[in-house]
Amino acid sequence: MKNNQPIGIFDSGVGGLSVLQHVHQLLPQEHILYIADSGYAPYGCQDNSFIEQRSRVITEHLIAQGAKAIVIACNTATASIIESFRQQYGIPFIGIEPGIKPAIAMTKNGHIGIMATTGTLSSTRYSELRQRFGDSVNVHNQACPGLADQVEAGLLDDPDTMQLLKKYLSILEKKQVDTIVLGCTHYSFLITQIKKIMGPSIQLVDTSYAIAEQLKRVLEQESSKNKAVSGSINYYTTGSIDNTKSTINSLLGYDVTVNPL
Ligand code: DGL
Repeated sequence: MKNNQPIGIFDSGVGGLSVLQHVHQLLPQEHILYIADSGYAPYGCQDNSFIEQRSRVITEHLIAQGAKAIVIACNTATASIIESFRQQYGIPFIGIEPGIKPAIAMTKNGHIGIMATTGTLSSTRYSELRQRFGDSVNVHNQACPGLADQVEAGLLDDPDTMQLLKKYLSILEKKQVDTIVLGCTHYSFLITQIKKIMGPSIQLVDTSYAIAEQLKRVLEQESSKNKAVSGSINYYTTGSIDNTKSTINSLLGYDVTVNPL
């Protein structure tokens, strides 16, 4: 494995950009290939075989491009395929899952909310994660269908987005949660909107920075960090170039080139 080979990062769409930003900040010398599977998003309401098939297409493309490690910047895909892909492909996979552990450390009243996709919350991996922490706190799961689609369309402040958020957050509010886990990478782009509804004292847990740190540790263990001075980022989408580009530009606040896949 050559140190100057790229890191592959993928998500069902633009949500994984929250992870990409931290990876680029922490490892600025690395070359990154980011794939938004926007043509097949959302993953959250799909079955395992669909997610596995899409993740396989993307993984094999990234490996063909020389990826030395792959970050699955999607809770739903991580829950569905990470264990089997680790066994099948000979490179490291770093995944993301809802940050229950940090939320337990942060909560003061013992009530935490988990916002995630239906797919993540119904997965075996999530129920194992949930069980690992026993009954020390009350964990309130909240599936949020439709929310990732709003972020995918770049509609962060749209009345429909606020309406959906209010619907899901009012359920968590009734459960008196003081800490909410953002268990889907798309939701990291809704922090301002969530705080607007829940008030500034709500504690939000976003594990995207921890994933970048985990990637750094893995590259160090494998002695495969890039030694170059500065890395590059290339963006690809399986969906509409114009729509994906417009959403990425508005989420990141600068102009990027998006390539077809
Ligand atoms: N961003 C993804 C996640 O972290 C999935 C969103 C979706 O496609 O439903 O779960």
